[in-house]
Amino acid sequence: MATADQARRAAELKALVTDHNYRYHVLADPVVSDAEYDALIRELIALEASYPELATPDSPTLQVGSGISDIFAPVQHVERLMSLDNVDSLASLEAWRDRLVRALGREPDGYMCEMKIDGLAVSITYRSGVLVQGATRGDGTTGEDITANVRTIHTIPHQLRNVAPEVLEVRGEIYMPVSAFAELNRRQMEAGEKPYVNPRNTAAGSVRQKDPNKTAQRNLSIWIYQLGHNVGAPGFASHSESLEYLADLGLPINPDSRRVDGIDAVEDYVRDALKRRHDRDYEIDGVVVKADQLADQQAAGYTAKAPRWAIAYKLPPEEKTTVLTDIQINVGRTGAVTPYAVLEPVFVGGVTVTSATLHNEGELQRKDLRIGDTVIVRRAGDVIPEVVAPVIEKRPKGAAVWHMPKRCPFCGNEIVLADGEAKARCSGGFECPSRLREYLFHFASRGAMDIEGLGYKTVDALLSHGFISDPGDIFALEPARLLDLEGWGEISVNNLLRAIESAKDRPLARLLTALGIRMIGGTVARTLAANFLNIDAILDATPEQLEAIDGIGPEISRSLAEWYTDDANRLLVEKLKAVGVRVADPEPESKGDALTGLTFVITGTLDDFSRDSAKAAVEDLGGKVVGSVSGKTSALVAGESAGSKLAKAESLGLRVLNEQEFKQLLADGPDAVGLN
Ligand code: IVH
Repeated sequence: MATADQARRAAELKALVTDHNYRYHVLADPVVSDAEYDALIRELIALEASYPELATPDSPTLQVGSGISDIFAPVQHVERLMSLDNVDSLASLEAWRDRLVRALGREPDGYMCEMKIDGLAVSITYRSGVLVQGATRGDGTTGEDITANVRTIHTIPHQLRNVAPEVLEVRGEIYMPVSAFAELNRRQMEAGEKPYVNPRNTAAGSVRQKDPNKTAQRNLSIWIYQLGHNVGAPGFASHSESLEYLADLGLPINPDSRRVDGIDAVEDYVRDALKRRHDRDYEIDGVVVKADQLADQQAAGYTAKAPRWAIAYKLPPEEKTTVLTDIQINVGRTGAVTPYAVLEPVFVGGVTVTSATLHNEGELQRKDLRIGDTVIVRRAGDVIPEVVAPVIEKRPKGAAVWHMPKRCPFCGNEIVLADGEAKARCSGGFECPSRLREYLFHFASRGAMDIEGLGYKTVDALLSHGFISDPGDIFALEPARLLDLEGWGEISVNNLLRAIESAKDRPLARLLTALGIRMIGGTVARTLAANFLNIDAILDATPEQLEAIDGIGPEISRSLAEWYTDDANRLLVEKLKAVGVRVADPEPESKGDALTGLTFVITGTLDDFSRDSAKAAVEDLGGKVVGSVSGKTSALVAGESAGSKLAKAESLGLRVLNEQEFKQLLADGPDAVGLN
């Protein structure tokens, strides 16, 4: 137990650190040095580690990513999260205004103009000033619990300032700052990994990390743009006032928002946002215009899915012209040959574009692109850059139609286009160094064998020294030879070898994915692994056996057969076995069926289970866990501070189990707790 002094010191540290966080991240006006700040947070972490009772849910130490995850459990939104209707021209923006004026009988009393942040929507709930929940938007009614990950976002306070209401739910947009994205990609490239496509997808992926420590490293940020459900907040006349109130509570409100009068001023804001689209450290995909007065909002009302009092002006995709200096080809991991445009660097849609895929020869000829052409390049939001069309008037004399080369520039083997296929292929198999490189990179990648440290750069180095010529060789690398590589020392060699060693023991589904068989991605691989448990059984299965499985059709069984008739692939499987790669999964433990036919809802906090582990325990015994209470629910498992679900279960007269009874249910079956 902590002494009273220690408890007091912890409370003081929490307040200090929370305040410094706010000054640093929200006001950009720190009053202590980084070193002083570090000392405070380290002292707090140490105290909490010694006395876990001091590690309360409002502690700022959770922002460094030590939160325990109850991640992705369904969350029922108290008030629906609506979406917005869109317009894409000033004329249709004016038409929206006209409809609004008709509904109100007059011009609305002021508009709020806000940036439409290109991130992902989140709902955050505070109880008595303490952050208790973060949830994704989901379908607007039910989202997913991402509390542990939201807590790692530095700009979001764990504890509100001033007098906080009893319940406060706010909506906002989580995003990855452009600068953080650039830094992440710089590190990614340095490690020889593929760069991320854009900040939005990367932010979305980061929020969906199972491990909050990973989210914490991504430097996400957030702008709050809307007050949601609340109990005990003061009344407001306008949206802009409510935002000021949220800012006073310490929430990050975007300073680029403006309250303006009249549609002309709205249009000025839109034009300015367009012009300075990339001047900020966050990406936008439009502007949101809201009638500011809450009375006006109420009078305008809602359609089935969106308010009539607000509208999103979507920014158009950006286009620029540049010169197509060359057309080159890639050979991918399956041997597919893809032409791509080499472009004079052009800044479009927030990034500098130097190349763009042209997909296949047919596509290229449809667009009539020729080397030397001035071309229009487009990039919209999260879309990868695209060469739209040539500017024919600027075509240089004698520019020739492009044709796929007859031979692969990497291995000299023939390039063939099979009847009825859009994609040409290199016939060189793994003789082709380009294909081999892509194949090995895929084999080691995260969704496949997940060999940390074996990115593009390392694969290239190993290939160019002739250390590997197929995936089997990875597992037979000799430390002494690796030490000869430039820039490699004992530590990096040991790290790589350790990563390779642990990759020998991956589940069968990962190995199947890694083999890069056409049509066998992660989902199909998992289905196959679960049904056959070892690689020989899969490769020896007849089409009938394969197609009897849900999710496996004739195309997949044909692709497997084709893959396995190739001797090189048979040899590869044997070689992987010989070097000790696991090619089978253990028999699943026989699951009991004591809870078959029963449906449970789990709510509140349990002492000895996370939401996930409680769910898994029920499912292991054949039971079902669902997100919401209904007449069909067999029982509600209610932990500490269970809320509305408990009330609902009680009102329906359902059986409610406490944690003790839940454990008894798992150990001794439903009769033991009087269920059935
Ligand atoms: S207001 C009822 N304001 O755009 C009002 N939304 O379809 C609902 N978004 O997914 C939204 N920036 O996450 C609002 N300043 C802003 C916004 C914003 C981005 C997102 C929001 C939602 C989508 C609207």
